[in-house]
Amino acid sequence: MSDDVGTWQNVPLAPPDSIFKLTAAYKADTFARKINVGVGAYRDDDNKPWVLPVVKKATEILLNDPSLDHEYLPITGLPEFTSAAAKLILGASSPAIAEGRVTSVQTISGTGANHLGALFLSRFYQWNGEAIIGLSSPTWANHHAIFKNVGIKPIDYPYYDPRTIGLDFEGFLSALRNAVPRSVFLLHACAHNPTGVDPTEKQWETIADVFLEKGHYAFFDCAYQGFASGDLDRDAVAVRYFVQRKVPLLVCQSFAKNAGLYGERVGALHVVAASPDEAARVKSQLSVLQRSEISNPPSHGARIVSLILNNPDLFEEWKRDIKTMAHRIINMRHELHGLLTQEFKTPGNWDHIISQIGMFSFTGLNVVQSTALVEKARIYLTSNGRISMAGLNSKNIRYFAESLDKAVRGTL
Ligand SMILES: Cc1ncc(COP(=O)(O)O)c(C=O)c1O
Repeated sequence: MSDDVGTWQNVPLAPPDSIFKLTAAYKADTFARKINVGVGAYRDDDNKPWVLPVVKKATEILLNDPSLDHEYLPITGLPEFTSAAAKLILGASSPAIAEGRVTSVQTISGTGANHLGALFLSRFYQWNGEAIIGLSSPTWANHHAIFKNVGIKPIDYPYYDPRTIGLDFEGFLSALRNAVPRSVFLLHACAHNPTGVDPTEKQWETIADVFLEKGHYAFFDCAYQGFASGDLDRDAVAVRYFVQRKVPLLVCQSFAKNAGLYGERVGALHVVAASPDEAARVKSQLSVLQRSEISNPPSHGARIVSLILNNPDLFEEWKRDIKTMAHRIINMRHELHGLLTQEFKTPGNWDHIISQIGMFSFTGLNVVQSTALVEKARIYLTSNGRISMAGLNSKNIRYFAESLDKAVRGTL
């Protein structure tokens, strides 16, 4: 056998992740006014990652705590973290928590929560036919891969309407109505990624009605609590409403964005069961699955978040930090909207810039316009026209608006 025929000769080269590819191109660019609006991570007004002051404080406390060691956490995570995390998303006075119906497991951030939830469903959900999950069209690209990895087939449901740059509510509802009973649908709890388009509270009520009529299961993904509106409770309304209506559900929770703990991988999976007995059985199986995948979750980030959630002063400080981030992003939305509509008088309607919520905005730019922005203005965004508002700041927003205006007019 020749030396150059390896074991993996049949492995095809996978394409690089589009977001990471975009970031690499941005980093390699030497143009002084380049802008990165591709990546979904918060940046301050100086375009720098922001370590939240409350996280610095909590880290300091941990470093000076002689009782801490590097022992393994329990398989399901740090108990004081998971219980506080459940209260954060479901509400401190949630009847489901009081009744002992919630099972919570610490996960490798939101991605790990999605994976563990998907894996659990693949093993134990009583599928009505094929194992299928409904995903919004479009959705966070990783959702497709996560469900496929565990043998659940993703099927798109209508969500975003390019004509209105808003929600295709009727299309969404008919997909729910036409699905077989007891189907599973993934719902973004708030700040839909990539569109920034969320249902209104009234629309959530109708969506919950259809879930109940059809016996559907809600797989909530909550990666942006607090980060969207600046208010932790407001961003949890959809999840809490579904729990109150007794729609069967689980929630994937991430502390990457709202605590700026991206690399620490802090998250949780909460399954709201019908009874304490059911919750206990679910927990036992989640433990078995977690054991074979990661054995024990990492401790550092969970300790930081646990300190913040369980200490009233730190919790108040965190809420202020969250407002700082959310409001900077909301201000950027207003500034961009003002520049486009009043100063540059860019053709088209730009109201969606301020009606969309969270880190991302679907600008409505087409592939040609988006590509022109990357190639000619060195403004890095994905070809679907999605921008991360966190990439904009007081220093670059004028150049951004001016370039967007030219892209729309075809004069770049
Ligand atoms: C919708 C959605 N879900 C989950 C995640 C998971 O993020 P992480 O694993 O960093 O918590 C993200 C991150 O971008 C997201 O946008």
